[in-house]
Amino acid sequence: MNGPASHAGLDTLLADIDVARSEGLAAIAASSTTDELAQAESGLFGRKSVLGQIKQGFGSLAVELRATAGRALNEAQQELRVAHAVAADELAAAARREQMQREWLDLTETPPGPGRGHLHLVTQTTERLEDVFVGMGFTVSEGPQAETDWYNFEALNLPAAHPARSMWDTLYLDMGERTELGDGEGGEATNVVLRTHTSPVQIRVMESQPPPIYTICPGRVFRRDTADASHMPVFHQIEGLVVDRGISFTDLAGTLEEFTSAYFGKAISSRLRPSYFPFTEPSAEFDINCVICEGAGCQTCQRTGWIELGGCGMVHPNVLTNCGIDFEEWTGFAFGFGIDRLALMRHGIDDLRDMYTNDIRFLNQF
Ligand code: FA5
Repeated sequence: MNGPASHAGLDTLLADIDVARSEGLAAIAASSTTDELAQAESGLFGRKSVLGQIKQGFGSLAVELRATAGRALNEAQQELRVAHAVAADELAAAARREQMQREWLDLTETPPGPGRGHLHLVTQTTERLEDVFVGMGFTVSEGPQAETDWYNFEALNLPAAHPARSMWDTLYLDMGERTELGDGEGGEATNVVLRTHTSPVQIRVMESQPPPIYTICPGRVFRRDTADASHMPVFHQIEGLVVDRGISFTDLAGTLEEFTSAYFGKAISSRLRPSYFPFTEPSAEFDINCVICEGAGCQTCQRTGWIELGGCGMVHPNVLTNCGIDFEEWTGFAFGFGIDRLALMRHGIDDLRDMYTNDIRFLNQF
C-alpha cells in the first residue's frame, strides 16, 4: 500500500483532524453555560465524536502511516480535553458566583431609612455620660449584675434587718452552697441577688485600689418595681465615687452642677433635697426641672414639676471602714443616677416604657 494514494489519504485525514480540532475548540468557546458545554461533549470525545469517526478511517491507511495519523489525532484530542477542562472550571465558577449572588442574604437588619441601624438610646446615653465624666477626670469601673448580699447591702451599711432594705427589694438567686463572687471576707456566700443599684461597684473599687479614687460605674440594675411612666423593673444607673483627702459636700454639689450643665445645657436647673441613704451621711436627692412640662406638673413628674435623677451624699465612715479605708484620713462623696430617666428627660420622652417596647418607629427617632 506504499504510494502516492496512501500519502493522499494521510493528508486528507490530517486535514480532517485539524478541522475537527478547530471546530471542537470553537464549540467549547461557544458554550456559555455548563449545560451547553455538556451538550457539546458528545461531538468532542468518544467513538461517535468527529475525531472518533476519523479514527475509524485509519484502517484504510498504510500501516507505517498510522502512527503519524494516530499522533496527530492524540494531540488534537489532548488539546480539546485541556480546553474543555478549563472551560468547565470557568463555567462552574461563574455558576457558583451567580447562585451566591441570587441567594445572598443580608443578615444585618437594616431599618427603613438611610441608616444601617444605631445604638439603643440607653446605650447612647451611657456613652455620652461616660464622655462627660471622663472629660472631668473620672475613670470607668464595672461590676457583676448578680451580687452577693455583702456587696449589695451589708458593706453599704445595710445589715440584714435594716428597714431600708425594703426600698431595694429584688430577686434572690439560688446559687447552691457556694458562689465565686465572694463575700468580701474570703468566706462562702449563699445570698445572691440581682443587684438593685450600682452602689456595690463602689465597694469593689474601694476594696481593689487605694485612694485617691475618681470613678464612675455604669450598669444594669433590677428591682421589684411595677413598670409605669417613670419606673421599670430592669433599668440602668450610673454611680459616681470620689475618695480623696479633704473632700467635702461642696465638692459633691459642684461636681453635680458641672455635670448638669455639661449634659442638659445651662437652661436646666437642679436642686439637692435632704434625704436618707444608709451608705451616705449626709444624704440628698438630686432633682432637675421636668423637661416635659417645664415645671408645670405632668404625669411623668407625678405633678411635682421636678424629676428625681438620683441620690447622693458623703460616703459613710462605716462604708470606708468596711473597705479598709481610714475615714480620719480620707473622705469622699458618691452619687447614683437613673440613666433611663436621664435619657427620658434629655429627649422629652413622656413614658419610660416606650424605650423598651422595641417599636422601630420610636427607636429610629434617636
Ligand atoms: C439608689 O439606688 C442609690 N444607690 C443611689 C445613691 C448612690 C445614693 C450613691 C447615694 C450615693 P435610688 O433608689 O433613689 O438610689 O435610685 C437612684 C435613681 O435610680 C433614682 O433617682 C431614679 O432616677 C432611678 N430609678 C430608681 N428606680 C427606678 C426604676 N424602677 N426605673 C427607672 N429608674 C429608676
